[in-house]
Amino acid sequence: MATERHYSVIDKLLLQADSAMRTLLPSSGHSQRPSPAIVRPEHAMDETETRHIAGLMRINHTGEVCAQALYQGQALTAKLPQVRAAMEHAAEEEIDHLVWCEQRIKQLGSHTSILNPLFYGMSFGIGAVAGLISDKVSLGFVAATEHQVCKHLNEHLEQLPAEDEKSRAILEQMRIDEEHHAESALEAGGFRFPAPVKFGMSLMAKVMTKSTYRI
Ligand SMILES: [Fe+2]
Ligand SMILES: [Fe+2]
Repeated sequence: MATERHYSVIDKLLLQADSAMRTLLPSSGHSQRPSPAIVRPEHAMDETETRHIAGLMRINHTGEVCAQALYQGQALTAKLPQVRAAMEHAAEEEIDHLVWCEQRIKQLGSHTSILNPLFYGMSFGIGAVAGLISDKVSLGFVAATEHQVCKHLNEHLEQLPAEDEKSRAILEQMRIDEEHHAESALEAGGFRFPAPVKFGMSLMAKVMTKSTYRI
């Protein structure tokens, strides 16, 4: 018979701190799937192009940091029997995205955003509050966030120079996964957020993209 493990408050805090460290410390995550970039060739690019792509990949990396924080915040507060089942697979794929983006940023000779701890904290808080309200809101938030991420990915795919096959391969696979995460969250009973909430989220996303593109 399966028994449910009970964690003390201290245990929970330690587990959260461990997840936060694994998300925020460079090179500490391990992907389940190899990066789609591995099988694509590297082409020579000039410095301006390389810096621009590194900026775009830094935005995507921070987006994945936010996704981790959102899932971890929800896991702390939501009841989650079905939610956890629906979201566990998605959360694993988000770790792949996080690792792939970080690897690509390094190949481009750049670094992940110094603002990641700040965005991690904000997203964790939002996830925890959404989880407290209800599972429906919590899942709705995942779906709305994934739609926002897909919008960025489309914009970035348009901006990538044709010769950067490696970054393109990563973003294309991420777009497939994120669309799927949004669908699963809605299928699991996620609330479809009204336009004003989505507008607020896209404002926050704008602040994130403008700042992390540079630092
Ligand atoms: Fe992702
Ligand atoms: Fe996702």
